[in-house]
Amino acid sequence: MVKKLGLLTSGGDCPGLNAVIRAVVRRSLTDYGAEVVGILRGWRGLMDGLMQPLNHDAVSGILPRGGTILRTSRTNPFVHERGAERILENVRRAGLEAVIAVGGDDTMGVAYRLYREYGLPVVGVPKTIDNDVVGTDFTFGFDTTVNIAMEAIDRIHTTAESHDRVVVVEVMGRDTGWIALYAGLAGGADMIIVPERPVSVQEVCDLIRHRHDRGKDFSIVVVAEGARLILHDGREVQALQEDEYDEFGHGRRGGIGETLGREIEAETGYETRVTVLGHVQRGGTPSAFDRILGTRFGIAAADFVQQGKFGHMVAIRGDTIVAVDLAQVAGKLKTVTDDYYNLARPFFG
Ligand code: F6P
Repeated sequence: MVKKLGLLTSGGDCPGLNAVIRAVVRRSLTDYGAEVVGILRGWRGLMDGLMQPLNHDAVSGILPRGGTILRTSRTNPFVHERGAERILENVRRAGLEAVIAVGGDDTMGVAYRLYREYGLPVVGVPKTIDNDVVGTDFTFGFDTTVNIAMEAIDRIHTTAESHDRVVVVEVMGRDTGWIALYAGLAGGADMIIVPERPVSVQEVCDLIRHRHDRGKDFSIVVVAEGARLILHDGREVQALQEDEYDEFGHGRRGGIGETLGREIEAETGYETRVTVLGHVQRGGTPSAFDRILGTRFGIAAADFVQQGKFGHMVAIRGDTIVAVDLAQVAGKLKTVTDDYYNLARPFFG
């Protein structure tokens, strides 16, 4: 039996993280008599030894809260001097017999390396609003984000229609278009653009013109922030703030909506506005689905620790919680499939 374990949240925050923390603590304390130590600010906290005990009181009342009471960071220990070694030293010093790491694809990659190369007994829990972690049908946070974006699209619809405008709605999704696809489908978008499938400005404008020709005087275009556009001169563009990279080498996205909006207005002559939903999509209270998924993941992670299922990630397939080998997850992304994208096509234009 593991008597003392650490828990950290890493990468971009997302709604449902506190449900996981609460479930890990409740399950570990109540059913296994194991102590849980909260590691602050993701891998940075484990490198620097930032920890605090987590008891019943610490997790009381956190279920409906967005964000993470443990804070988070995008720290990659492998780009820091002796990062992995410092982690191992702190784990030993704190008497942690296992670590649960809650995060997205980058976090799972770090967890896998620490497990394989340094023997750290680690269990992964997938989280991201982007829903792009391989091996699991869903990550918590995604449902809340899709609902926020859908509601925004609903609201944009009425104002777009009143003014006979085209509105481009830019949603999150750095490398994958799940948020754009789901929110666009649920919100009845007239065109959805995802990073996995570059589209030409010409194609978007033709769709909008076609729609207007059949009597619709407004259009909603949903675009993922990581989308790629093919301009009239054949250049493919992706909005990237060149000098801003995180420790995992990801460039900061944002701005493709503006580019697209300008191009649409110039090409079609239709008045066009752009709305960037940004971090509104990631903040605030989680949906019931995300609270329950986070709770199920947290309970399973606490169980995996006691069962010695290290080097694995909890995941959901259908309605069943399963263990996935981190080797199958690290360094990969779950991208939008043709089947899903084709589901949206009949509604374009
Ligand atoms: O966590 C995923 C995500 O929300 C992406 O969709 C987005 O590109 C990125 O994080 C934004 O990161 P930050 O909050 O660091 O700007």
